[in-house]
Amino acid sequence: MANRIYSAVVGSGGYLPGSPVSNNAMVERLRDSGLETSDEWIRERTGIEQRYFATDDQTTSDLAYHASLAALEQAGLEPNAVDLIVLATSTPDMVFPSTACRLQHKLAIRQCAAFDVQAVCSGFVYALATADLFIQTGQAQTALVVGAETFSRILDYTDRSTCVLFGDGAGAVVLKASDKPGILAHKLYARAEHEAILNTPGQLAHGRVCGSPFLTMDGQAVFRLAVEVLESSAREVVGLAGLDLQAIDWFIPHQANRRILAMVGKRLQIPESRLIATVGQHANTSAASVPLAFDVARRDGRLQAGQTVLLQGVGGGFTWGAEALRL
Ligand code: UT7
Repeated sequence: MANRIYSAVVGSGGYLPGSPVSNNAMVERLRDSGLETSDEWIRERTGIEQRYFATDDQTTSDLAYHASLAALEQAGLEPNAVDLIVLATSTPDMVFPSTACRLQHKLAIRQCAAFDVQAVCSGFVYALATADLFIQTGQAQTALVVGAETFSRILDYTDRSTCVLFGDGAGAVVLKASDKPGILAHKLYARAEHEAILNTPGQLAHGRVCGSPFLTMDGQAVFRLAVEVLESSAREVVGLAGLDLQAIDWFIPHQANRRILAMVGKRLQIPESRLIATVGQHANTSAASVPLAFDVARRDGRLQAGQTVLLQGVGGGFTWGAEALRL
């Protein structure tokens, strides 16, 4: 039997637009709409201290472009080495072409497969699993996998329970076919019966936006479900990788809320020192949150070759999933 082909992570990059927007800046902004919030409330309930917002002339593919360049540079590869782009976003540049194709153009890649994946805050984990399967089956050799969002464009600044939670950004990784692990295991799920607890229902029809173009969320319902599935998917995917939880060096769950991370960490008996948390600095960047956190920890030297990492997404759909990998 031929040896298994693995997907090895050979580079990562991140990009946060503009300058940080503090909680106090959000307090000012909401005051203009007659709403009250406070730095204390946001910190205590979410752990968020700041977020980044794209400038008016920046689109999701612009953010993805900067993150991708950084990832390719770290991998020591020219853009034209890429034969597959999988880009996760819920805030695409336009209805079509895909944001992945727009990114391909910005990177001046002449020809490769390129498409978007839409799984909201689970998007990156879905995209990474998809790219891994292309590599495992020999359909691609070098994949650029990106999570990029401009959630600031779908936030309702008259809803204080959601608009303080999200930010913009992009993260990217480069995968290369290798005979050494690599991505070890992944598992993806969706349970659409929970669509109503987190959605942006608006659609373009007959030249108009029909339905609300803003994000709506039942925060407590999302919180409960997120804790449940982050716990179950961690146990399942670590098992599929032939490991146990104590053998995982780093946990990188979707960065939605510090309290969710703490609760899941407690249930899995993972010490905080093995949990990567960037929600305080980035807020919730949806599909960008996991690759951004991965890149931060890789660049600051916490993630080291040979270590094992668990990546986890959870979000609208309702969707969730996880990947175990060896660096
Ligand atoms: O990426 C996946 C999607 N997102 C998530 O995973 C988020 C999951 N959910 C959460 O993180 C939390 O549920 C929230 C942070 C959204 C809310 O925290 P909570 O502890 O569940 O608060 P709550 O919704 O129960 O609201 C408590 C109070 C309410 O006031 P009353 O009714 O008790 O008087 C809210 O009106 O906090 C009020 N509130 C605020 N107060 C100040 C809600 N938003 C704000 C705000 N500032 N921004």
